[in-house]
Amino acid sequence: MEAIKKHFPIFRHQKDLIYLDSAATTQTPQVVIDALTAYYTNYRANVHRGFYALATKATNAYESARDSVAHLIKAKREEIIFTSGTTMGLNSLAYSLSPRLSHRDNVVLTRLEHHANLVPWQEMAKHYGFELRFIELKKYELDLESAKKLIDANTKIVSFTLVSNVLGNITPAEELIRLVRQKAPRALAIVDAAQAIAHLPIDVKKLDCDFLVFSGHKMYGPTGSGALYGKKMLLDEHLEPFFFGGEMVRSVSYESADWMPSPHKFEAGTPNIAGAIGLGAAADFIMKLGWKKIQNHESELTAHALKKLKNEVTIIGPVRNRIGVIAFTIPGVHPHDIADILNQKKICLRAGYHCAEPLHHYLNISATARASFGIYTTKKEIDALAKGIQKIKKMFL
Ligand SMILES: Cc1ncc(COP(=O)(O)O)c(C=O)c1O
Repeated sequence: MEAIKKHFPIFRHQKDLIYLDSAATTQTPQVVIDALTAYYTNYRANVHRGFYALATKATNAYESARDSVAHLIKAKREEIIFTSGTTMGLNSLAYSLSPRLSHRDNVVLTRLEHHANLVPWQEMAKHYGFELRFIELKKYELDLESAKKLIDANTKIVSFTLVSNVLGNITPAEELIRLVRQKAPRALAIVDAAQAIAHLPIDVKKLDCDFLVFSGHKMYGPTGSGALYGKKMLLDEHLEPFFFGGEMVRSVSYESADWMPSPHKFEAGTPNIAGAIGLGAAADFIMKLGWKKIQNHESELTAHALKKLKNEVTIIGPVRNRIGVIAFTIPGVHPHDIADILNQKKICLRAGYHCAEPLHHYLNISATARASFGIYTTKKEIDALAKGIQKIKKMFL
């Protein structure tokens, strides 16, 4: 895996950097930087507007990035809408779908959700009066029995994360969506794939989700890029555009307008062209590495970390069915102190609520430290973390 590290220039420039915060954002491989630079230096132009060769080149690169992203999650190209990231994807869905709901309806989330898949629904619930329900956890896993009780004929949306950004567990997405189809055939299933996208192969058809959202910066792509997948029929007939302006319209009069076919009707204004091209390059990078290599490496790393850390810290999360996102506490030491002291050794990890404050309260923990891995992480770096933790314990306890 040292060979993979060489793809990421930051590790050449900062030789002693131990980056264990990939769940917050991943590092950028040279191929993605090259794709961004090529657009800005060789063929910058707006897309879908110009009739000259430069503009055609930019449009082709932008649309070919859509192919790469579609390929990554086994979707059709028309089912991919470029966004600024997961937060924009979830807000767009909440804004667009909620006006159809009323006080008789309910939206089902889980206790695991990141603020991005909670606060938009809370805000919409205030306006439209629907009820929010939360699937409970059992030993850190989603409790499908609780889901069975909560999802009913009045459930209109079930929106949940595929991987928790705190506990690292992989949720039983296929089973949950099957349950939604049985109990609430007209409900829409939304998957937050922010933490899954760089670590698990996703097949939207097999999952049978209606919508799925993710961010480019969590999959080795540029910040401010991302995608919203929607089933073609839903994008064509059900989901209303959420932004209005240039390039999403077919014709406009002073009185009204009608829309381009999807996905263009959802991409109003000049998009993040470089970001989309970089996102496409990141999708190609992942596909070229191959899931087998990525998953073998990361599951080995996770097993190594759990073994190294289990006697040193309290791990908050399951042992199995998880990815390399490991939240932990050291009784008697504040997580901010853990992160601060490790920073002195150039070990980067996150401390706090990780944008999942209600989950911390639900689990009765005040805050956690979190180490998270990427394809470039090595066992040596995890050993350095374990050593750093031993030092902290000697200092504080
Ligand atoms: C599970 C989950 N959902 C949503 C988000 C929000 O992603 P972004 O900040 O890229 O929009 C994150 C980011 O950490 C996340 O981990």
